[in-house]
Amino acid sequence: MHDPIILAGDSTNPISVSAVLAAELEEHLESIGGLSKAWSNAQGFKARFGDTLIIPSAEGEVAAVLFGFGNGEYEALETGAALNKNLPAGTYELSDGFDDVAGVALGFALAAYRFDAYKKVSPSKAQLVISDKAIIDELMPILDGTRLAKDLINTPANDMGPEELATVATTLFDDHGGSSNIVIGDELEKEFPLVHAVGNGSDRAPRLVDAIWGKDTDPKITLVGKGVIFDSGGLDVKPAAGMILMKKDMGGAANVLGLAAMIMKAKLPVRLRVIIPAVENAISGRSFRPSDIFISRKGLSVEIGNTDAEGRLVLADALAFADEETPELIIDMATLTGAARVALGPDLPPYYTDDEDLAETIAVHSEAVNDPLWRMPLWKPYNKYITSKTADLANINTSGAGFAGSITAALFLQKFVERSGSWVHLDIYGWTPIEKDFRTHGGEAQAIRALFDMLKTRFG
Ligand code: BES
Ligand code: MN
Ligand code: ZN
Repeated sequence: MHDPIILAGDSTNPISVSAVLAAELEEHLESIGGLSKAWSNAQGFKARFGDTLIIPSAEGEVAAVLFGFGNGEYEALETGAALNKNLPAGTYELSDGFDDVAGVALGFALAAYRFDAYKKVSPSKAQLVISDKAIIDELMPILDGTRLAKDLINTPANDMGPEELATVATTLFDDHGGSSNIVIGDELEKEFPLVHAVGNGSDRAPRLVDAIWGKDTDPKITLVGKGVIFDSGGLDVKPAAGMILMKKDMGGAANVLGLAAMIMKAKLPVRLRVIIPAVENAISGRSFRPSDIFISRKGLSVEIGNTDAEGRLVLADALAFADEETPELIIDMATLTGAARVALGPDLPPYYTDDEDLAETIAVHSEAVNDPLWRMPLWKPYNKYITSKTADLANINTSGAGFAGSITAALFLQKFVERSGSWVHLDIYGWTPIEKDFRTHGGEAQAIRALFDMLKTRFG
């Protein structure tokens, strides 16, 4: 696949595209003159949003393209996606009518994403030339990080096991001059008992990746991602319909790696740490069982009510570990509950934090970069739902009713973070079931453009 966006100078004679409001079509056609008005009428061009009209030259070549901009109330990423989909093969440059060139270019490039590792799929054919190098430099970290997250999720579990996922993380950090440590085997069992318990049923050994980048004196930001490479549910096995998409259960890890790539490529002045428990929740004679009790890294005992509530277990130990060095900010991302999707649907991940300023800032950046997020509460009274008669905590709602599943999972995680300046948890879906504008079908980057925008503003 060629790069969907390129720097001017790398291409000659791009075709210029003008955005035309429906209300200004007449006027615009007058201004171009020639036969364009008759041509536009003959084609029935109305400049509705996304309509494209090719204006031929007298020699019968493509002279220019008009891009319908309807009433003008369109968001930049969605505009870019519409351009990518509707322009015929060729090389284009944005002429007048586009305010946010960076946003349009990003939407164009995001819509061009294809996952073609296992099958030839028809590539995106149009190419966009950007004349401002600063725009390209600003976009590349975001684009690369987003593609990384999507590729990792889309790769099936037979090729993306705990080892492969850990290798992606260590390679990414190596490439940027960082370092990493992988905890595995007896050491994992001793240091991260819950990670070991969840991953032990698989022939592919569980492990915990701890990767670090940046200057020690810079503010410490730690990202924790759920890396369940496949979630069969374990002994409390999932039904087929619930299991089919579970290669995406490392979507939290994929997204924190995407965000880490953005941070490192943009060289944000932070001391970045990424912690990923990489496990398979599998069924075997070594699987953990409902009613087992484990002492977590933090010392809290946890009774297993259902082995399918495995995400909060591996995150508990990873978060406790992250918290030990008291970072300024911990962000965790996880495909944690089906309940989050019931509450808000696949495209609007909930986030949880008790830091009011952080909550507000996230909302602002989410809106600014069209990366939708919705705050949900760490509602203390529901702590009673995750109590156990025999342990400090239960990994499921023990009240008998399956209420507030995403909230109770978040409350469970909260028990393992005490010292850090602030903590935010995102219960993402990590998947776009129905393609829409710049969101292609399949593995999805969620929240990381918003979080990157926030971190860039706060630390950049
Ligand atoms: N990985 C799933 C959550 C999930 C399911 C996310 C479907 C996105 C789509 C998680 O490990 C899980 O199985 N959660 C259970 C928890 C329950 C057993 C308490 C759930 O949400 O049903
Ligand atoms: Mn599960
Ligand atoms: Zn899971």
